Amino acid sequence: MSERDAGLVQRATDAVAKAIAPRKPRVAVVLGSGLGFLADQIEGAVRVPYAKIPGFPLPTVAGHAGELVAGTLEGVPIVAQSGRFHLYEGHDAWTAALPVRVFAALGVKTLVVTNAAGGIRRTFRPGTLMLIADHLNLMFRNPLAGPVEPGDERFPDMSDPYDTELRVLARRVASERKIALDEGVYCGLLGPSYETKAEIEMLKRFGADAVGMSTVPEVVAARARGMKVVGISTITNVAAGLGGGQALAHKEVLETAERVKHQLGDLIRGIVAKL
Ligand code: HPA
Repeated sequence: MSERDAGLVQRATDAVAKAIAPRKPRVAVVLGSGLGFLADQIEGAVRVPYAKIPGFPLPTVAGHAGELVAGTLEGVPIVAQSGRFHLYEGHDAWTAALPVRVFAALGVKTLVVTNAAGGIRRTFRPGTLMLIADHLNLMFRNPLAGPVEPGDERFPDMSDPYDTELRVLARRVASERKIALDEGVYCGLLGPSYETKAEIEMLKRFGADAVGMSTVPEVVAARARGMKVVGISTITNVAAGLGGGQALAHKEVLETAERVKHQLGDLIRGIVAKL
């Protein structure tokens, strides 16, 4: 299924630009599970429901709203994406990346992505915050496949997708604010079923520290548009088979995300303030 059509990015951008005028965001924040509250802290906010944006589907997952919120956070003009499009909902990678392309077209230079993930590294506990150092794309989908979107690079470099300088900045903010921040490799899978124990064993050998079902399409599209990216995963649970035989449940994911959301929000505010 393909939801794209030529000119859709431009039409969506025009609709958003008009709705948020005269605001001109320079930072975009993609809010993962439980982080919707951060959108409420945006000052001078205007909310744009997805229903008003061409090409934006309505989210289907509990815990995800469906709106862009533009205004300022820490005095920085930003747009927050509350509710993302997952591949496991049946969206193609192009659609998952549509908001990011719109952000780039609006003039956004820095993308902050957050997500919930299962912890693979032995020392990770539910509630651990992990700065994303790199990713493995095991979704076997790519938002750049197909005709080149105007403004995209055809073959973008992916050797440093999570900007080195921004990671230094994130670690500095974390240490200033006394927020524990680990760093590791995020692996994106299609989902929506959680992994088998054998799959987690495989991912561990592949070098993954955390596993989730989002983020990769957005980051690939951001790099194709020259945006800088910083990403943070909330480890909401230990990955399958590593938690002493306990079964995984979406409820645990939401509860952990809820528990650490203020810490993560604090970290994001601190990072945004320095962008
Ligand atoms: N696996 C995949 N995605 C996830 C998980 C997990 O264990 N936890 C939160 N998102």
